[in-house]
Amino acid sequence: NSLKKAFKDKFYIGTAMSLPQINGTDVKSDQIITSQYSSIVAENCMKSMFLQPQEGKFFFDDADRFVAFGEKNNMFIIGHTLIWHSQLPKWFFVDKNGKDVSPEVLKQRMKNHITTVVSRYKGRVKGWDVVNEAIMEDGTYRKSKFYEILGEEFIPLAFQYAQEADPNAELYYNDYNEWFPEKVKTVINIVKNMKSRGIKVDGVGMQTHVGLDTPKLAEYEKAIIDYASAGVKVNITEMEISTLPSPWGTSANVSDTVEYQAKMNPYTKGLPQNVQKEWESRYLNFFRLFIKHEDKIRRVTMWGVTDNQSWKNDFPVKGRTDYPLLFDRNFKAKPVVEKIIQLT
Ligand code: XIL
Repeated sequence: NSLKKAFKDKFYIGTAMSLPQINGTDVKSDQIITSQYSSIVAENCMKSMFLQPQEGKFFFDDADRFVAFGEKNNMFIIGHTLIWHSQLPKWFFVDKNGKDVSPEVLKQRMKNHITTVVSRYKGRVKGWDVVNEAIMEDGTYRKSKFYEILGEEFIPLAFQYAQEADPNAELYYNDYNEWFPEKVKTVINIVKNMKSRGIKVDGVGMQTHVGLDTPKLAEYEKAIIDYASAGVKVNITEMEISTLPSPWGTSANVSDTVEYQAKMNPYTKGLPQNVQKEWESRYLNFFRLFIKHEDKIRRVTMWGVTDNQSWKNDFPVKGRTDYPLLFDRNFKAKPVVEKIIQLT
């Protein structure tokens, strides 16, 4: 039995792919991906700093292999991500003197990037994270270069360029801490505004980088319901449940101490039984929620295959040992996988 069989009539179930997985040097993970998942997204290689490191100099080798892998295995292929303030090459928004470019120039660069990338995979990449992480938890716009130079209009513009390049691709707005009520409100306004103007938007992406305690399931569920009621599909785009304490809010001088580092990385010798239980029941609660709202959900994607390759071992504190994913460090399915399958 497999996850993809279990969820076949509900929603796509997917994973992010790292470079070794894309390039065939992590064969054990590839085996898990093809047997368990029906959808893939590239963890890094389709971000602007990799696709267009210098203006006009595109690098498609990795992305091409990623798309070929998905086609070969009959998967729903997702492109991540077109417009994002992070992993963005600096040339994108500066002129030859290092000064911010004009709105006209930035629009042209956005259009050229989006058009080149989306047309290359037209009809093959089925959905795009068009804009990533543009809204803050308090509902205001992130003060990114896109926002500073173009204002709020950079989001509809990005969607419009993507739509022109592949009218049949699904287009998503994607974000983290996506359950904060003020953020939900602003994202819904953006969606409604684009819809009223005839600009295509098919879904909201809820990244779902969650911990054992946050968010509360009820507030997360409310976000699913609210997004869906704006007339778009909900995509769970980057899920993992970290087992580690969150360092947010710790002052810089405290975070340097040895005691603090140890406190932030308590499970180097394995996850204690009780934490493992808590983690497992949290996964099951999330999947119960996804199944309950299967009419609203297009896809659930995990942010990686095995624990040892999760970005969570190095973020937001470097060098930790986390256990956030469905497969362990020996490429074995954790017991939770069978239990998730049993829910369907
Ligand atoms: C992360 C990758 O997992 C890391 O390998 C990389 O170093 C940084 O980016 N939100 C997103 C993803 O939309 O693209 C990020 O991925 C995680 C947070």
